Amino acid sequence: MADLDRVLVLAGGLSPEHEVSVHSGRGVAEALRRLGVEVQVADVDSTLLDRLAQDPPQVVFPVLHGSAGEDGAIREVLELTGMPYVGARPGACRLAYAKPAAKALMAERGVRVPRGATLPKSAFHDLGAPALMDRLANRLGLPLFVKPDRGGSAFGAAPVTSVQDLSAALVACFAYGDAALVEEQVQGTELAVGVLDTGDGPVALPPVEIVPDGGVYDYAARYTAGRTEFFCPARLDADALAAATEVAMTAHRALGLRDLSRTDVIVGEDGQVVFLETNVAPGLTETSTFPMAAASAGLDFSVVCRDLAHQAFLRG
Ligand SMILES: Nc1ncnc2c1ncn2[C@@H]1O[C@H](COP(=O)(O)OP(=O)(O)O)[C@@H](O)[C@H]1O
Ligand SMILES: [Mg+2]
Repeated sequence: MADLDRVLVLAGGLSPEHEVSVHSGRGVAEALRRLGVEVQVADVDSTLLDRLAQDPPQVVFPVLHGSAGEDGAIREVLELTGMPYVGARPGACRLAYAKPAAKALMAERGVRVPRGATLPKSAFHDLGAPALMDRLANRLGLPLFVKPDRGGSAFGAAPVTSVQDLSAALVACFAYGDAALVEEQVQGTELAVGVLDTGDGPVALPPVEIVPDGGVYDYAARYTAGRTEFFCPARLDADALAAATEVAMTAHRALGLRDLSRTDVIVGEDGQVVFLETNVAPGLTETSTFPMAAASAGLDFSVVCRDLAHQAFLRG
């Protein structure tokens, strides 16, 4: 372990989740410094490649959310530099980041996913928005949930209770992406389930129950202190928690992820677990569920970060 002493945390990025990433990056940097690891924090910009070449760290710890960090591009660049890094490989990131593709894969594994349709902006232009919206509501039923087919932090995501509200939700959604994923709105209890692998194989962390005060887990509810209540352990029965844990483990394995991930699910009133999405760069801020779950499992967040970095270092 003594061999690891220089880590570069990548945080920020050009995405709507810049601020969250800066917070997550700070959290990881402080956690590593507590154990005596020398840490630098850098953003992803035109100076990065020179910096990596001139002053190479031993390990890169990317803590970038949204397209900048989760669509695989930055990992592809790190592969090109030959620099060891924490987290999933580019192809796995690309797959997990594309929500409809990840859902299809999970459905193939027998996991329940929300019924839905993915439509590009052009379809609404070309085919006529009113007719298409009617068809969506008829086919999927109300209420609906609209979100970009790739994205994060609930940007451009909204519940929809009537066909009249659907167009505004789609307009908001297309501000964040070129295609909208329109889904049946799943009712139940939302859980975030972290999976951690520091060398002995992936292990699920205790699920965290998420109860936003306004009922919607949007950006404000996520990052404003006190706007959301978190329960860990979650207040569900053991069977439901075991099923949610199983879904997170299936996602981590099926999507080919590495080191850490977080899967978002909703447990319906019938106890069925519905898969929403998996994140390859889960939030690591003070209010994020992954560090919360690690603490609840009796893990020291500093040790978790150091073990992840050390494992990447050993991979070389
Ligand atoms: N089909 C759905 N039914 C009900 N709520 C949903 C649905 N899809 C997403 N949500 C809600 O929206 C939030 C954001 O959706 P998610 O797919 O996790 O995207 P991201 O976190 O990448 O923005 C979820 O945490 C959940 O609260
Ligand atoms: Mg999510």
